[in-house]
Amino acid sequence: MATIIDGKALAEQVTQAVAADAARLVAERGVHPGLAVILVGHDPASEIYVGRKMRQAARAGIVSFEHRLPADTPQADLLALIARCNADAQVHGILVQLPLPPHIDPARVLDAIDPAKDVDGFHPVNVGRLSSGTGGLVPCTPLGCIKLLETVIDDFRGLKAVVIGKSNIVGKPVALLLLERECTVTVTHILTRNLPDIVRGADIVVAAAGSPGLVRGDWVKPGAVVIDVGITRVAQPDGSSRIRGDCAREEMDHAGAVTPVPGGVGPMTVACLLANTLRAARATSF
Ligand code: GUN
Repeated sequence: MATIIDGKALAEQVTQAVAADAARLVAERGVHPGLAVILVGHDPASEIYVGRKMRQAARAGIVSFEHRLPADTPQADLLALIARCNADAQVHGILVQLPLPPHIDPARVLDAIDPAKDVDGFHPVNVGRLSSGTGGLVPCTPLGCIKLLETVIDDFRGLKAVVIGKSNIVGKPVALLLLERECTVTVTHILTRNLPDIVRGADIVVAAAGSPGLVRGDWVKPGAVVIDVGITRVAQPDGSSRIRGDCAREEMDHAGAVTPVPGGVGPMTVACLLANTLRAARATSF
């Protein structure tokens, strides 16, 4: 049977470690790590994610500053709020939940965040640092994927990793992190030809296509480690709905290890946001 990698338990460990370090920062320097959370509009999934992020921040001793803006907020107002957060010494991390309403240009918004407070790691300066391997804040979901992989893999060097999905939020940065660990990385996407055959060669599969059940059991090499980043709500015949990942996990008994959905990558994304916020708070408090 494949090992089930418990993302919830690992996220709790990371959160507790952040809480201990945050308490130390308060005691030794009088600095309370602070996170500004900005949500524009009422996307139901975003509301859930933002709620989770703030709840976990509170558990870790991080102060959140919540900014809920109406869906028709002008871009200029959002940029002005970001400028205020950049200038606010109590705010060490700034998170603008994506997606934004269609009249707002996400690139303009992400560019406006001070790279030192960019706890999502989406600012071009942090993207550049990641691609050149020169530090910077690293996007939370990819960082969570690596921490999950590290629970079952000691030595990444030379392993074949296949990433499914080429998004800026997950696919591209996770590929860079795997490359940094000297994996041989193949990035694939929805138009990739012979995707099952490419996945069959992989020691590590990171599935981030947002396509429920895409990766079938017979795509996965025996012993491979499968990280399932997909979170899609799927309607059931009885009218209810359930969350499904990108992998048909019931077909993966021969894998070496797999992450569950829910309870795998999701909790780690939140825990890594807390870790990034603490890192940003420490960096600016010396
Ligand atoms: N929307 C989906 N994932 C993310 C994320 O990691 N950060 C932000 N800000 N928005 C998201």
